[in-house]
Amino acid sequence: MKIIHVVGARPNFMKVTPVHLALGDYPQIHQLLVHTGQHYDLNMSDIFFQQLGLPAPDINLEVGSGSHAVQTAQIMIRFEETVLKEKPDMVLVYGDINSTVAAALVCAKLGILVGHVEAGLRSFDRTMPEEINRLLTDQIADLLFTPSRDGDENLLREGIAQEKIHFVGNVMIDTLDRLLPLALERWQNGRFALEGLTVDQSRYVLVTLHRPSNVDEPKILTEIMAALTEISREVPVIFPIHPRTRKRLSDMNLINPKSASQNMNFLNPIGYLDFLALQQHAKVVITDSGGIQEETTYLNVPCLTVRENTERPVTVSIGTNILVGQDMGRLGSEVERIMDGCAKKGTVPPLWDGKASEKIADIIVNKY
Ligand code: UD1
Repeated sequence: MKIIHVVGARPNFMKVTPVHLALGDYPQIHQLLVHTGQHYDLNMSDIFFQQLGLPAPDINLEVGSGSHAVQTAQIMIRFEETVLKEKPDMVLVYGDINSTVAAALVCAKLGILVGHVEAGLRSFDRTMPEEINRLLTDQIADLLFTPSRDGDENLLREGIAQEKIHFVGNVMIDTLDRLLPLALERWQNGRFALEGLTVDQSRYVLVTLHRPSNVDEPKILTEIMAALTEISREVPVIFPIHPRTRKRLSDMNLINPKSASQNMNFLNPIGYLDFLALQQHAKVVITDSGGIQEETTYLNVPCLTVRENTERPVTVSIGTNILVGQDMGRLGSEVERIMDGCAKKGTVPPLWDGKASEKIADIIVNKY
């Protein structure tokens, strides 16, 4: 059986790695890894392959950046050629990025089986490009692997047949579980040195922001940066900056460290292991990412999400996540509560146990 995995952007790489490893245990499975090239910078792509132990892609479609239509269309055109040449029995797509929906659509039209890893998540906010990608991918996928029960419920409500849905758990946690010990070796005597910066455990706030709704609107980005600068007067802020966000901040002249407080540390995007090590010992993580809401819940680290909604509701209902929206007063007061030792306590959601990928491999091998 020939399987093509399609990945394109940073969060995909942690998801494909354990599935690729698990399927590697079955000699009858021949796997090909296709990188669409949606993310192409060394620190957005190559460093993840190295640190995760993921083999280099067999094929790189090199689509690069572009508008949603251009990027999606380019992936479809180039991936269709790949599928026609390679003739896979099944294609696996991951998460909710443009590469996910583009590859799924190509396969649906060619009659190739598609499996969607991380299916069923819904923010119910169609202004998010990822929500459109999730809805469309799930409608045309043949196997839907969900990370949480809310995913199953969403899919059933949307008319997806029960037999296509498989609740397997969270593949991102499989990777975290495997690599956390290695990541934590970066801490020496309670200190961690990175890019000329030294931080002490539990004495910093970790920030990531890249959602268009937060960074593309100058007024909102200015308010968020003002709130983060205020927080940095109390506790050091470590902020590895996504290229999209860096561009916006430079355009607005907000990235000059001298204009911020001394404790505001802007970094370039960092690798998986460094980021994991920083998450584990952060006092709190402030983010608008999807995956980081999950990782902090698993690590039992407080997370404040700068979004009005989340497609990962278990991180709020039973995890450590709190949605603060774009209310910067609320962000400040929640940080204070955490600094005062009143952080929300959480538990780990069912089947976030490091074995999701084994279940996916078992289902693929034994049912298809
Ligand atoms: C994409 C995903 C988003 C995911 C995020 C993780 C979609 C719709 N969005 O958003 O769900 O959370 O990846 O990072 O698929 N750029 C670089 N170097 C790169 C990649 C991008 O400089 O290697 C810059 C380019 O200016 C580009 C911009 O970042 O225009 C945005 O990249 P893009 O892939 O369009 O979307 P992300 O914001 O990264």
